Amino acid sequence: MSRTSDKILILDFGSQYTQLIARRIREESVYSEIQPFNIPIEAIRTFNPKGIILSGGPASVYERGAPVPPRELLELEIPILGICYGLQLIAMLMGGKVTHSEKREYGPAVIQVLKPDVLLKGFENASAKERLVWMSHGDRVEALPEGFEVLAETSNSPVCVVRHRQRPIWGLQFHPEVHHTAWGKKILRNFIFSICGCQLSWSMQSFVTETVRKVKRQVGHEKVIGAVSGGVDSTVMAALVGKAVGDRFYPIFVNNGVLRKNEAEEVIALYQDTLGLNLIYHDASDRFLSALKGVTDPEVKRKIIGKTFIDVFVHEANKIKDVTYLAQGTLYPDVIESVSFKGPSATIKSHHNVGGLPEIMPLKLIEPLRELFKDEVREVGRVLGLPETVIGRHPFPGPGLAIRILGDVTPEKLATLREADAIVIEELRVSGWYDKIWQAFPVLLPINTVGVMGDERTYEQVIVIRSVHSVDGMTADWVRLPYDLMARLSNRIINEVTGVNRVVYDISSKPPSTIEWE
Ligand code: XMP
Repeated sequence: MSRTSDKILILDFGSQYTQLIARRIREESVYSEIQPFNIPIEAIRTFNPKGIILSGGPASVYERGAPVPPRELLELEIPILGICYGLQLIAMLMGGKVTHSEKREYGPAVIQVLKPDVLLKGFENASAKERLVWMSHGDRVEALPEGFEVLAETSNSPVCVVRHRQRPIWGLQFHPEVHHTAWGKKILRNFIFSICGCQLSWSMQSFVTETVRKVKRQVGHEKVIGAVSGGVDSTVMAALVGKAVGDRFYPIFVNNGVLRKNEAEEVIALYQDTLGLNLIYHDASDRFLSALKGVTDPEVKRKIIGKTFIDVFVHEANKIKDVTYLAQGTLYPDVIESVSFKGPSATIKSHHNVGGLPEIMPLKLIEPLRELFKDEVREVGRVLGLPETVIGRHPFPGPGLAIRILGDVTPEKLATLREADAIVIEELRVSGWYDKIWQAFPVLLPINTVGVMGDERTYEQVIVIRSVHSVDGMTADWVRLPYDLMARLSNRIINEVTGVNRVVYDISSKPPSTIEWE
């Protein structure tokens, strides 16, 4: 574990918000680490945290099989903050009573402070709006254990904020880590600074140093491979792993034939020249395009690309002898999607990037970004000195342009879409819009429409421009681009891209539409 001096340990009882707690604490420049709820007490002593937070969780503390840490945890004399399930756990372990509540509480509530306390410092004159907290629970503490007192209540939760009179133990029924709890940050700050006495100890720079050290120690003299695409996640992952193990890391880049204009060349230059890594490049365009020939169904296209990718990658990887590790750019949202939370996009479309690799290649996994959110990964990229063009790059799906060409994929259609895409990206960059939005791209429709050019009738293809704002890709709204920019996009595409005589703009949000058209 970490050598950083002041640390907060977060014990995970399965809440979707656990990582958010870690993130909030890191935002305060204090190092925090998440460990499973049943980490041995000895390991906690060795870790030597300044404070411990017990996360929320979906179980009921009185259920059989509910996650329960050893009782000694509460006797360590290290400050403890229990959140929701964490509070109920403290109550149960110390002899109180937790029951199923008649009134389940999900959403906002206003707390009334009954007694001033260091945890609620700053609340003295808070308005009702500032005392808004976010609840999400079906159980509640019916009887507090001996020695505890109530510091605040809500109309539905008489036991909302509590503390032990002598020992350093606090509990909250609501979630201070979520954005909707107005003063949640203040409460966490009070805990980590005023109660635990932490000093500032975390920065993206320290994350990089620490991660490089961990990967170096883990890998030793073994070899590592990893699939890379030129996207932010895999590039930051590769830069970190490369820094840790040098030329024993072999990033593999497969050209699947459905990349954007000049993309393969740019990715090769980035890895070889800018990052100085041992890139293995394999152009499998013909194989992908022949597998896609005549295929029109979006899901079948995705499956073919996913399967062909794995076949090609495994073939290339097997050429490198004695590999022990597979490095992946998995982020925290990918982890929660696969473990406890299935977002709509996971079920509506199959995402095929490198998802299936660990099952097929029995290698040990290295996932240095698994605890971070996308914007934190971008910060890591900045610390590593990656070019802004890489850090700010819009997401690009694994199945590439194949899911932006509706109907079958042909070399001619690819050429058309590549030209239109290059124009869209160039105009967005020049106008300064590229960095203001989540993603923008053209889609090629499988229909022709009538037009007129130079007195002649034309019957040509249609390009749609899709441009969206989003924070995580799960929901999105279309961007109100200025009309003059839209006019330039349309003029340039129709004038410069052969075979296109009409450009339209997609004004659908997600949901009900998705960002990609297939
Ligand atoms: P949708 O179309 O599901 O897209 O609204 C949400 C976000 O995910 C991207 N996307 C993918 N990314 N592999 C990826 O890595 C895929 O198969 C894939 N499909 C969609 C999409 O570009 C958007 O940012």
